[in-house]
Parts: sequence; structure tokens; C-alpha cells
Amino acid sequence: MSNLDQKINQIKRDLEQQLLKTKDLKILDALRIYFLGKKGLITALMSELKNLSPEKKRQLGPSLNILKKETEEKIQKTKEKIIQEQTKATSLKKVNFDVTAYKTDTLKGNTHVYTKFIEEIENIFLSIGFDPYDGPEVESDYYNFTSLNVPQNHPARDMYDTFWLNKPSPTDSTKATTAEKLPTSLKLRRTSRPTSKKNLLLRTHTSPVQMRIMENNKPPISAFVIGRAFRHEATDATHDFTFMQCEGLLIDKNVTLSNLFAVSKKILQTMFQKKELDIRIRPGFFPFVEPGVEIDMRCPFCSGGCSVCKKTTWLEVFPGGLVHPNVLKFGGIDPEKYSGFAFGFGLTRLAMLKYGINDIRLFHSGKLKFLEQF
Ligand code: PHE
Repeated sequence: MSNLDQKINQIKRDLEQQLLKTKDLKILDALRIYFLGKKGLITALMSELKNLSPEKKRQLGPSLNILKKETEEKIQKTKEKIIQEQTKATSLKKVNFDVTAYKTDTLKGNTHVYTKFIEEIENIFLSIGFDPYDGPEVESDYYNFTSLNVPQNHPARDMYDTFWLNKPSPTDSTKATTAEKLPTSLKLRRTSRPTSKKNLLLRTHTSPVQMRIMENNKPPISAFVIGRAFRHEATDATHDFTFMQCEGLLIDKNVTLSNLFAVSKKILQTMFQKKELDIRIRPGFFPFVEPGVEIDMRCPFCSGGCSVCKKTTWLEVFPGGLVHPNVLKFGGIDPEKYSGFAFGFGLTRLAMLKYGINDIRLFHSGKLKFLEQF
């Protein structure tokens, strides 16, 4: 057998093997180029013919032609076969399409950690006879500051990095305009808005709702507010430009600090489900209370100091105090007859403590891995 014959046989075998394996039109085309293309194996063999004697040419020429033709035919046949199989597969898929076959796990929604915690706190307040109130998040300077005994240029304003919605005017009125005093009842009016367009800001705390409650109710008053507050500050793991606060207000005859201590102790004990949860009191300053206090609670997570309480066994949780007589006056309540206490704790901070959340930004991150845990 001549060398060329051997080559022809080898090509035939290779072609058979390759075609059997091929199920893809692109690969088939590559095979065609490999055997029949300009630089293909068969084309190369054909050009070798030139160098042979006329006799050999006559002998091998036809077999090469046959090889070329057969290869073309075989490739064409395989092409038809592949197309046929593909059409069959797609039509089979259509006929037997199983709508449930690709069903992924359905994500179930659940309540946000805030919603869960807010409901818990609402229940605690309702169970001790406090009524729920709400006020606007866009507030006026009057309600957020002035009526709370923080006049213009008072240094205490520096405690609250404020998002002003328009430039505060230097002559802040000390009295609410008639328009500002509306609406008359804020009881659970979630749509209530500030009614003056002057000196608007995003409320820096929930305390302005205290004033709205006083204006619209006569003592005895026992009210609580849960809502969002805003501070113009850089965010990190423990600071966010928005967070939730909870405000408590009780006004009646002869209200004293011991009432505040008893109520806050009860709230904390129920919240952390600890029957014996000690509190301690330190002096604190807020212009709208006199005296002002900071109430700490015994760390509910340890007995001898842990990373949450930074080994001190105490956690700072509850600022409050007795409502300042000026604030009562602004609210239309006679400080000679009535006294009251107010407190406003960071609900976000307590939620972080209670659920062991170490980054405040997670609350609004929308991360499912975080949200699904609650
Ligand atoms: N409003 C205060 C704050 O956000 C907290 C507070 C409320 C203090 C009521 C005393 C009484 O910082």
C-alpha cells in the first residue's frame, strides 16, 4: 500500500470517529474546515498529487476525488441528522413542558425587625395604660426646639445635628401660629403634617410630639410615641442619619421622678424579659426636663461584665426627667397645678442590644440574610 493510500485510509477512519461524536453544528463546521478547508487535510493531499508521476496520478487521483466527495456527503448527512435531532428535542420539550420542573424555593416574607420590636413595645405601653400618638417627621423649628425650651442660639441646639429643609430664619417666633397648632387631634394620625412652611426641618427627636399632645389634651395625660428621628451625621456601625425613638409622657397632679423610675424599670424588665432588672440613675441634661436624668440598666446579657456592657455591667438606655415648667406652659398646662415626666429612648439602640445587632446600617440594608433572622 502506498503512502498516500495509507493517508487516505487514516483520514477516513478519523472522519468516521469524529462524526460519530459530533452533536453540534458548530463543531461539525470546524470538522469540515479541518478536512476540506483551504488548508484542510484532503486539500493538502490533493496538492501532493502534483509531485507524482502521471501513472501514480491516474491511480490515486480518482481515489482522492472519491474521498473528497464522500467526506462532503458524510458531513452533509451528519448535519441533517443533527438538525433533525435538535428539532425533535425542542418539540418534545414543548409537548412535555413541566411547569413545576424549574420551581425555585419561594421566598417567604416576614416582619421587619423594627415592626416586631415596635409591636412588642406598643404592647408594653398599652398594658400600663399609655395611649399611642404620632406626629409629623417634617417638623417646624417651633415644635422641635423653641417650644421645648430650646430657643434660637441656645447651645443645646448643637446636640442635634439638624437637617434643615429651608434656611432657618433668625427671628424664630416663640409662639406657634394658629396654623401650626392645627390639626387638633393627633391621636394616631399618621398623615399629620406640620402646617407652617417656615423653618422646616426633619425632626431630630420624637419630643416635638410631646408638645402636640399637650396642646390637644388636658391632663391627666399618659402617652407614648414611636417614630423616626433624623440627625445630620456621618454614618458608621453605631450612627445612622435616621433611627427610631420612643417617647413617653405622663402629666398629672404630683408626678415625681420616682414615677418615672418605676415606669422605666417596668418597661425595661418586660422588654428584656427579666423579672429582676436593676436600674441606676445619673444626672443628665436636656433643656426640656428639669431635673434631667440618665437611666442605666443592669446588663441583661451577663452578670460580671461582657463585651456588650464593655465590662461595666451597666448599659445607658433611658434619658428622661421631669417636664420643664416652661415646656408645660408652652403646651398650655399650668405648671403650678401639674407636673409630669418624659423620656425618650433610642428604640434602634435597644433593638440592637436586644437582638445582638452590631451594625445599625443593617436595618435599612434590605439584606435578606439579615432580615430573615427575625
Ligand atoms: N429627646 C431627647 C433626645 O433625643 C431624649 C429625651 C426625651 C430626654 C425626653 C428627656 C426627655 O436626645
